Amino acid sequence: MSRERREELRSNFDLFVQGAGDDPARLLGLARVAGNLDLWRQHDELLGRARTLAEPGSALSRAIQHRINRRVPTWHFSMLHDRERNEAVDRAIRTAVSPGDRVLDIGSGSGLLAMMAARAGAESVVTCESNPAIAAMAAEIVALNGFSDTIRVIAKPSTDLDVEADLGGPVDVVVSEVLAANLIGEGVHTTMEDAVRRLLRPGGRLVPASGDIVVALAEWTELTLSAGSRNSICERSTACDRATLA
Ligand SMILES: C[S@@+](CC[C@H](N)C(=O)[O-])C[C@H]1O[C@@H](n2cnc3c(N)ncnc32)[C@H](O)[C@@H]1O
Repeated sequence: MSRERREELRSNFDLFVQGAGDDPARLLGLARVAGNLDLWRQHDELLGRARTLAEPGSALSRAIQHRINRRVPTWHFSMLHDRERNEAVDRAIRTAVSPGDRVLDIGSGSGLLAMMAARAGAESVVTCESNPAIAAMAAEIVALNGFSDTIRVIAKPSTDLDVEADLGGPVDVVVSEVLAANLIGEGVHTTMEDAVRRLLRPGGRLVPASGDIVVALAEWTELTLSAGSRNSICERSTACDRATLA
């Protein structure tokens, strides 16, 4: 496909979505096209809609679920098994959240941080997740753990939240773990700037409230590096892997 054709499809994509109506098979087909065009927000929204419309247990429903599952990055599982990380986050949340606080958790994942905030005494927790498949799973996990009365899962990026309609006003505490391996990648700066400006009350608390990037110079003269491996080394070095750099 030519670059021009690709751009044309991308810019008209919302028209195709409108034309698909409520037919789950067409929505799945369109989701595949959206994926090929790197329109991942539309891709995920189409699959979320297709899933609610497809007959449960049907071959179509299984095909939709299969594609949704492929969108869940496998690092979620290793992150959940990172006991040191989880315990550190729990300690920070217990310090920041006081009984009666209203809390926003950005990036639900499994809902772990939202449940920690509820356990720390928050009066209410809204947790938002940009990936609808993950948001649906978070809602299930929250319910299975008996937190449905306190925690509400919203399948939206934080930057799309309406502070009044979704949160009932700015919250007392924002917790999040949307950090990239190099701290500031993956749009975290935009997310946090927006959260502090619109979603957190003046004087409210952030968890985490700050982070450090550690940089060191390294010399590697023995290898002639391809562009790809050079990039990967740059990424690892910004991830503060001191052992690699030592
Ligand atoms: C690193 S995971 C953390 C999951 C969970 N909070 C935890 O700590 O176990 C980050 C999650 O945040 C979601 N995410 C990233 N930026 C977001 C944003 N601005 N709004 C909503 N979700 C976001 C991603 O889709 C991903 O599921």
